[in-house]
Amino acid sequence: MDRPKSVPSGQPGDRPSVPEQRSTSGPYLRVDDLRVRFDTEDGVVRAVDGVSFTVERGRTLGIVGESGSGKSVTSLAILGLHNAKRTTITGEISVGGRQLVGLPEEEVRRLRGRDMAMIFQDPLSALHPYYTVGRQIAEAYRVHHPGAGRREARQRAVDMLGRVGIPQPARRFDQYPHEFSGGMRQRAMIAMALVNDPDLVIADEPTTALDVTVQAQILDLLADLQAEFHSAIIMITHDLGVVSQVADDVLVMYGGRAVERGSVEQVLRRPQHPYTWGLLSSVPSLHGDADEDLVPIRGNPPSLINLPSGCSFHPRCRYADRNGDRSRTEVPQLRPAGGEGHLVACHLSTEERTRLYREDIAHVGVAR
Ligand SMILES: Nc1ncnc2c1ncn2[C@@H]1O[C@H](COP(=O)(O)OP(=O)(O)OP(=O)(O)O)[C@@H](O)[C@H]1O
Ligand SMILES: [Mg+2]
Repeated sequence: MDRPKSVPSGQPGDRPSVPEQRSTSGPYLRVDDLRVRFDTEDGVVRAVDGVSFTVERGRTLGIVGESGSGKSVTSLAILGLHNAKRTTITGEISVGGRQLVGLPEEEVRRLRGRDMAMIFQDPLSALHPYYTVGRQIAEAYRVHHPGAGRREARQRAVDMLGRVGIPQPARRFDQYPHEFSGGMRQRAMIAMALVNDPDLVIADEPTTALDVTVQAQILDLLADLQAEFHSAIIMITHDLGVVSQVADDVLVMYGGRAVERGSVEQVLRRPQHPYTWGLLSSVPSLHGDADEDLVPIRGNPPSLINLPSGCSFHPRCRYADRNGDRSRTEVPQLRPAGGEGHLVACHLSTEERTRLYREDIAHVGVAR
């Protein structure tokens, strides 16, 4: 059952006009075979190329991958934030049982901010410099609660500022973004994203710009809010330490595709894809001993206009030649990788991967 919103449904503008498509069972977010293409002067950019995943309420999915792997494009597609003219989106995105792909812009806008919200890496991209922080949060509330008066919206914004740990929220309400510190701006943006109690929160590198202490506080805050509201969260991050701390499940993206998916335990402790091995072994913080050799991923991320044939990771994979030509000719599909729900897109057999991982990778400490 959906948690009731702060305002009774039935108010104009507070309910989707497609209730017949809505179901309350199953995962809150379902993304199925999502493809996002941009038409550019240089050619068609296949930024997301057949990605599927689900997120249930109360769970956190971590999405990891190198820069340009399609993480943000995926989240912007879910929120309906791509420019419709230059973007082609196919596949299914279902939020709370509503299919979003192809839904008219006004319908998506009605859900955005209310049922789903995004926390961006850079708070200044979400907070306008010319308006006070409190006013922006109050406005975000009123957009979805047209019946709310100014006083109610102000009170709600002050409450939210307090909830995200901003001291003296009533005073802070009237300050401008530049009067906030970086960590406080991030909190204010979280307050704005959460002001309507969204059921789905997408946090795109929300703590990258923050120092470690503030980062830990923000992650704790998100965990508290999730416990309170039972929201589904997507956490996009380069930081596998953050993933290991907050995620229940992990999706590893490479060149717009999902190459590995599973529980955090499976993907971080029993990783199956050579690309995931590379990501994990490039992270000193996940190693027990800083002196041990790291195994960086050689080469560069692929061009999304002209992806390598077959397995798009093959030019960078140390094991690409073990299957003759197959890596170059056949796109590997996600297949069961051993543990329940653990999937990997790699032509190597599970036995071979397990052996290679044990011989080549595990000794540098990744499996800890
Ligand atoms: N509007 C657009 N038009 C053309 N190409 C785009 C557009 N938006 C994104 N891209 C391209 O799509 C690819 C994926 O971008 P995306 O922003 O999703 O990467 P990311 O995984 O979020 O990377 P990062 O970790 O750096 O944030 C990139 O190559 C990017 O240049
Ligand atoms: Mg991004």
